[in-house]
Amino acid sequence: MKIEVADEAGLGERGADLVLESLGGRPDPVWGVATGGSPLGIYRALAQRTFRAWRGVRAFALDEYVGLAPDDPRSYRSTVERDVVRALGLDPALVHVPDGSAPDPVLAAKRYERDIEQGGGIDVQVLGIGRNGHIGFNEPGTALDEHTHLARLADETRIDNARYFARMSDVPVSALTQGPATIMRSRRIVLIALGRAKAPAIARALTGPVDPVSPASILQRHPDVTVLLDADAASALPE
Ligand code: GLP
Repeated sequence: MKIEVADEAGLGERGADLVLESLGGRPDPVWGVATGGSPLGIYRALAQRTFRAWRGVRAFALDEYVGLAPDDPRSYRSTVERDVVRALGLDPALVHVPDGSAPDPVLAAKRYERDIEQGGGIDVQVLGIGRNGHIGFNEPGTALDEHTHLARLADETRIDNARYFARMSDVPVSALTQGPATIMRSRRIVLIALGRAKAPAIARALTGPVDPVSPASILQRHPDVTVLLDADAASALPE
């Protein structure tokens, strides 16, 4: 696991380097994209680069709320379309987001896992992290060998994400998410975290035991992870 500390702009540039390095040489590149505020600097930096092959990139989002229509502006489908698809010029037909409005979400999760496998697996997965150590919507207590599944959101996560909703009661209670095992199959992982609120989760994930109480800790077992941190997010790591 490589840990790099820089300011927000520098992290965005570094994340963009890693993404392009991973996708650039592949005949059928597959990108794993994350929502949340943390990766936005990477997407902004990518938008400044020249990469003519975006139209051929297949992408898979990490997760999606259950119960929001895909065209709901608060859905991750809408977020990915705005921040990634339109910003970089990806072909929308090649961009997949779990179907959170499917009548049978468990079946939708299985299909999503299969689609990732049939797409050849993910070359590079961008990840954020929750204050409680979640990756995607894999909350503390999630079995680390889970694949894409229907997940219940932790209260802490619903509170953190309430900023995107008018009322707390509007925040969905469940989501479809790639599981820890799905994420671990990506050939490369880039985790980005900004701000002091993330420092305890980062310290537990990187230096604590690999344990479902800290879902991100599973990344310690991946052979190619780069963790991009600002000084605040790195502040609880041992010297
Ligand atoms: C959400 C997403 C995660 C994301 C996390 C942190 O819960 N499901 O994928 O990593 O929020 O978001 P932010 O980067 O805005 O702090």
